[in-house]
Amino acid sequence: MMSSRKACQTMLAEIDMHEEGSLIDLGSGWGTLVIAVAKKHPNKQVIGYELSCFPWLVSTIFKYGLRLDNLTLYRKDFKNAELSTASTLVCYLFPGGMIALQEKLALEVFNNVIIVSNTFALPLCQPTKVIRLRDIYKTPIYVYHWQPK
Ligand SMILES: C[S@@+](CC[C@H](N)C(=O)[O-])C[C@H]1O[C@@H](n2cnc3c(N)ncnc32)[C@H](O)[C@@H]1O
Repeated sequence: MMSSRKACQTMLAEIDMHEEGSLIDLGSGWGTLVIAVAKKHPNKQVIGYELSCFPWLVSTIFKYGLRLDNLTLYRKDFKNAELSTASTLVCYLFPGGMIALQEKLALEVFNNVIIVSNTFALPLCQPTKVIRLRDIYKTPIYVYHWQPK
């Protein structure tokens, strides 16, 4: 399942590309979001983590085909990812994935980060903004400004 075009556009509109630091997709799938960002912003460091072999392979082929030198794609669990370089995290996970992310943020992320999540909310954080897409599901896009305590 990948983010719809509307979801991608809405998520990207919430991201400040002038922020220093990388943009990380915590489950980059077929590369829909990371490839769009890396193409549009060649000076932005874009990173994707993906567990599934086939989507990761396809997105990696596109990365090399499109010569996206600013895009790094890891076949790796985001729970083992280094998030300290990120200024922005994007995701379209599932409820259990959001719980894991919440725990990882609390334990490991000591910088301010913008988090944009398609469909699923962080269980213990108040979003700064919730945008409802104009689709049949009124899909929510959650925006958070994470600040370490
Ligand atoms: C719904 S897709 C979203 C893909 C892409 N981010 C998008 O918005 O189009 C979620 C992806 O997250 C991956 N995923 C789920 N748990 C993960 C984990 N712990 N680490 C890395 N990737 C994960 C899944 O394999 C799947 O490809």
